[in-house]
Amino acid sequence: MNENVLEAREIYKSYPTADGQIDVLLGINLAIKRGEIVAVVGPSGVGKSTLLHILGILDRPTRGQLRIDSTQVSSLSDDQLAKLRNSTVGFVFQFHYLLPELSALENVMMPGMIAGKKAEELIEPARELLGRVGLAERESHRPNQLSAGEQQRVAIVRALINNSKVVLADEPSGNLDFTNSQTLHALLWELSRTLEKTFVIATHNLELARKADRVLELRNGKIVN
Ligand SMILES: Nc1ncnc2c1ncn2[C@@H]1O[C@H](COP(=O)(O)OP(=O)(O)OP(=O)(O)O)[C@@H](O)[C@H]1O
Ligand SMILES: [Mg+2]
Repeated sequence: MNENVLEAREIYKSYPTADGQIDVLLGINLAIKRGEIVAVVGPSGVGKSTLLHILGILDRPTRGQLRIDSTQVSSLSDDQLAKLRNSTVGFVFQFHYLLPELSALENVMMPGMIAGKKAEELIEPARELLGRVGLAERESHRPNQLSAGEQQRVAIVRALINNSKVVLADEPSGNLDFTNSQTLHALLWELSRTLEKTFVIATHNLELARKADRVLELRNGKIVN
């Protein structure tokens, strides 16, 4: 059995712009194991978010091969890609993007609803996840009734509701103060260890990066270590 949950081979990504093409990724190779926590670091503009979007099939590479959980992504149709994305990857962004009119519980359930599950099947798993991040008592609160740190914790468990094997987190604590960042980091670690989830985290936070199992440093379009 292949224990790598993510494999990228010779991934290139360029963006066409009015002023010419911007070449961001210039041959990325990586393999990430089940349960690993990997930090992606590098200066602003180096391509961390670009890489995460490709690994999470939110965007396609210009060329190169991506394998997620034994599925070769490049051979899939858009419909198949959407299904694979729904069932295997979860996202956490710097800003949580919770839906303001929904409760915390409904926000966590939403990716499950999109994947076609019934509300009844999702309520208990969503409650269980909220409990894991200390928000059991807040399930009926809307995002504007929660603190920034609490909102981000809702966003993290939302990324797990579909039993995603891989969670891609782009500056998950970038918008939080020190204490909230610490809480969030501890939770990421606990979730990854107890639920055997794989996390790929783009971050400027060196303390967060240091705690990862592995750090990938991006420079000039490549991983340099
Ligand atoms: N849609 C796009 N069109 C054109 N250029 C883009 C697009 N998206 C990103 N870029 C460019 O690609 C490069 C990499 O951007 P990216 O957002 O991946 O960097 P990053 O490492 O995540 O930076 P930060 O640390 O500031 O978040 C930048 O030069 C950016 O301007
Ligand atoms: Mg970024």
